[in-house]
Amino acid sequence: MEIIKKIELMQEVSDKWRRGGNIISCVPTMGFLHQGHVELLSVGREKGDRLIMTIFVNPTQFGPHEDYQRYPQDTEGDLDKARSAGVDAVFMPTVEKMYPDGFQSTVTVDNITQYLCGKSRPRHFAGVTVVVAKLFNITKPHLAIFGEKDYQQLVVIKQMVRDLNMDIDIIGVPTVREKDGLAMSSRNNYLSPEERLSALSLKKGLDFAKKMVAEGERDSAKIKNAVRELILSHPFTEIDYITICDTEKLTDMENIDRPSLLALAVRVGKTRLIDNIIVRTN
Ligand code: PAF
Repeated sequence: MEIIKKIELMQEVSDKWRRGGNIISCVPTMGFLHQGHVELLSVGREKGDRLIMTIFVNPTQFGPHEDYQRYPQDTEGDLDKARSAGVDAVFMPTVEKMYPDGFQSTVTVDNITQYLCGKSRPRHFAGVTVVVAKLFNITKPHLAIFGEKDYQQLVVIKQMVRDLNMDIDIIGVPTVREKDGLAMSSRNNYLSPEERLSALSLKKGLDFAKKMVAEGERDSAKIKNAVRELILSHPFTEIDYITICDTEKLTDMENIDRPSLLALAVRVGKTRLIDNIIVRTN
């Protein structure tokens, strides 16, 4: 497995692989890998001839009071997991190389970044799109794989790729959960044992909503209220949003008359967690 820190070298390696007729898949990550990332890697491995994983904790997608400075890192562990997953190259640039002095370009997706996480993290998606566009230009993949846990991010990246005619297939992979249902996330690491218990309220809320819809409830407001009550009955929880919306436009839906996205963001103690499910009416 090659470990590549230089942008130009990564581009050369990808060019060489492309010239050799290889299909390149790319899994962008911020490191501190868990089983959810491993799943993305296994899809990348299966669909491509050459698999690149990127590790870069991207400063531009964190707000001023967010966890950029303390984002968990475990480079050795990540490299071991990447090796076992059959990664061919890990690209791990420095911040200085990705954003040199004088960097001034932006890549933004407008409407769909205003909703859900965009409300409380106003610059977040602009940070994600600029870094993902850069990572695509550097790793030159044919396909790139992202988790459905970050559903809005996946929709935003698909939109960017479509709007900017990037010749890359974007593949979403279902959320991987702990045995007790908690969606895997590098940020779960911040939770105390008591908070970890309360964090289960996200999945419980989603399951409860699913049950309500299965039993015939179609009124989004009623479902959101029930989910809110359930989550707030757990200590340390504070709700950022609970949304039932269109799966592509991400606009609110008052009635569930077609498959819709139920997405939520909840602070458990100081840790902000997100989760979602697609709710179906049949
Ligand atoms: O999902 C993530 O880990 C990050 O947002 C990504 C896509 C690697 C961009 O920094």
